[in-house]
Amino acid sequence: MSEHLADHPALQASALRFAYPGSAATFDNISLTIRPREIVCLLGGSGCGKSTLLRVLAGLQAPSAGQISFLDAPLTEPSPRSALVFQQASLLPWLTVAGNVGFGLDFSRQPHITPAQRAQRVQQAIDAVGLAGCEGRYPAALSGGMAQRVALARALAREPELLFADEPFSALDAITRAEMQTLLVEVVHRWHSAVLLVTHDIDEAILVADRIVLMGGQPGRIVREWQVDLPQPRIAHAAAVSALRLEILAALLGERSSA
Ligand SMILES: Nc1ncnc2c1ncn2[C@@H]1O[C@H](COP(=O)(O)OP(=O)(O)O)[C@@H](O)[C@H]1O
Ligand SMILES: [Mg+2]
Repeated sequence: MSEHLADHPALQASALRFAYPGSAATFDNISLTIRPREIVCLLGGSGCGKSTLLRVLAGLQAPSAGQISFLDAPLTEPSPRSALVFQQASLLPWLTVAGNVGFGLDFSRQPHITPAQRAQRVQQAIDAVGLAGCEGRYPAALSGGMAQRVALARALAREPELLFADEPFSALDAITRAEMQTLLVEVVHRWHSAVLLVTHDIDEAILVADRIVLMGGQPGRIVREWQVDLPQPRIAHAAAVSALRLEILAALLGERSSA
């Protein structure tokens, strides 16, 4: 990527509004920019519209109003240059780990790569998530944490400019979740991907984000933002982390009581 292109946002959304048919607006007047390689956490209480916003930003659902541009082009459908990870790993049970990781590379809209490049991408992604040696296993033989590693590898294999992740670690136990948070930061840096991570977990947001965007209200909007300039690993900066945590918690509670 040239210096010039590196200055362009990966994703730029302006004045987005979304309403489910027959319902009041889920969110309104949301503008958000994600820069290349930036990890943005979208934080908010349950039901505030985070998943809906993520689906709109990923091109899975059209906004009711507003514009989205992804890599300097208007977004009208999910881009092959983005990838998604959800709370459920959603692996295909009849494919092995390697088969699942390679699965996203076979869609017709995916840029063409040779079989050798495909094999290399799959192996690199599997190695990066710590599953070397498990290539031939089937999903039924994987723990929840391992399945989420496969889902992350499947996304990485596509070399996305932007990774959309909707509460990807919420179903995992605390230790596995902490491991996955560290892994996520490490691999997206290595893959040079930007990330939009949706979470209701303040700690998760603080541990991984370059920027935290707080969503709230009815209809949902962006209430506040924090740039998190603490070096990784954040866990080594306990005092600053806990100060930020309290500040965000106060903003969340203030937001709720004023709603
Ligand atoms: N398919 C749908 N049809 C109608 N309403 C929906 C649908 N999906 C979600 N909603 C509603 O939209 C609001 C936002 O949901 P969601 O985006 O899932 O919030 P979050 O991810 O923050 O928990 C909720 O009130 C939810 O009930
Ligand atoms: Mg959600």
